[in-house]
Amino acid sequence: MTTPVFDPVSIPVFDTGTTARRRRSAKWRTHPADVLPMFVAEMDVALAPPVQRVLADAVAASDTGYAVALPELGQALAGFTERRWGWTVDPGWVAPVPDVGVGMVEVLRLLGAAGRPVVFSPPVYPPFWNWVTEVGAHAVEVPLTDDGSWRLDLPALERAFAQRPAAYLLCNPHNPVGRVPDAAELAALVELATRYGVPLVSDEIHAPLTLPGETFTPLLTVPGAADVALALVSASKAFNLAGLKCAAVVAGSAPMHAVLTRMPPDVRWRAGHLGVLASVAAFTDGDAWLDGLRGALADRFDTLGQLLAEQLPQVRWCRPQATFLAWLDCRAVGEGDAPFQRFLQRGRVAVEPGTRFGAPGSGFVRLNVGTSHELLTEGVARMAAALR
Ligand SMILES: Cc1ncc(COP(=O)(O)O)c(C=O)c1O
Repeated sequence: MTTPVFDPVSIPVFDTGTTARRRRSAKWRTHPADVLPMFVAEMDVALAPPVQRVLADAVAASDTGYAVALPELGQALAGFTERRWGWTVDPGWVAPVPDVGVGMVEVLRLLGAAGRPVVFSPPVYPPFWNWVTEVGAHAVEVPLTDDGSWRLDLPALERAFAQRPAAYLLCNPHNPVGRVPDAAELAALVELATRYGVPLVSDEIHAPLTLPGETFTPLLTVPGAADVALALVSASKAFNLAGLKCAAVVAGSAPMHAVLTRMPPDVRWRAGHLGVLASVAAFTDGDAWLDGLRGALADRFDTLGQLLAEQLPQVRWCRPQATFLAWLDCRAVGEGDAPFQRFLQRGRVAVEPGTRFGAPGSGFVRLNVGTSHELLTEGVARMAAALR
C-alpha cells in the first residue's frame, strides 16, 4: 500500500512506479511483475483523506465486526445524490448490498428472471452475462449503435421489449465506451419500458466519475422511471473501495421499494463493515477530493490523446464522458480480434481484450487511465513498442 496521505487540500495522490507495486490487489497480482497492469478497473490512487481517516480509526479501535449500514448509508447517499445531481433519494428506500454484482443478481431474482430473457447492450462490462446466467435467465443482446456514437438502439430495444423480457440492464454511464446516455435517450427508454412492462435496472457505479463539463442523468430522475426502475449505486469505483464490499440498490417509488423488501434478510449481513464506513465518509465528505480526481482524470485523457496521436496514430478512440477507462479501436493495427495479446506478449502491458465485452468489442482493447501521468506514459510507450 502507499503511505497514507492526509492531504489538507484533497488533491488526489497517484502512485508512481515504485509505490504502485506495493499494492496486493488483483490489478497488481494477476500478471508477472514485469507486466504493467492497465486492465481491471482499480485506480492507483491514495484513498481520499476522509476515507483514510475513518478506516484508520476503525482499525485502531479493532472495529471490524458486522456492518449496520442503515440509516447512515442511505442518508449519506441521499446527501450525495442531491448535491451532485439534484436526485432526491429516500434513505428508507435504499437497500445495502455487498457489491453491485451481488445487488444485480439479487434484483434479478426478485424480478423473477430465472428461465426468462434479460436484455442488455454490448459492448458492456463482462459480468452482465455472468449475472444473467447466475440466476438461470438467458441473455438477449441488443448492441449499442455501431456508428461510433454508441447510443442505445431504441428500435432494436423495442423489438426485444415486445418479447416481454424479465428486465433490461442499463449501464449508466456505460463501461467500456465511457458514454453517458442523455436525458432524451433515457426518457425514450423509460417510455418503452413502461409501454411493454419491462423493469429497468440501472448500474450507476461509474456515475460519480462523470467528467467535468458532462452531465449525468440518474435514471430514477427521468419522469416515469421510478415506477419501473431500480438503480445500483456505490462509492467503490470513484473512491477505489472495491475490496471493502459495499453498494446499494435504490428504489424511487413505493411499488419498486416493495420489490426490494423481498430481498433475503441475510444479504445485508454480507456487506462489509469497513465498506459501509468508507462509503458513508466518501458520500459525506468526499466531494472536494472527487472533484480533484475528476479533474485529474480529464488531464489523463488529454495526455492519452496526445500520446496516441504521437505514438499510436493507427489507434482510434472517442474521449469518454465518464470513467477512467478508454475504449481503444485497434482494428487498424492488424491483429485481428485480439490486439491485447500483442500488447501483453511484446509490450508487457496488460489491457482488457475487447471481446470480453461482447462481439462488438472485436479489435478493441480497454485501457485503464486511473493512474499517474508517469505510468500512463509508460503504458502507451509499451503499447507502441509492441507494434514496432
Ligand atoms: C459497470 C460496472 N458495474 C459493476 C462493477 C463491479 O462492481 P462491484 O465490484 O461493486 O460488483 C464494475 C466494475 O468495474 C463496473 O464497471
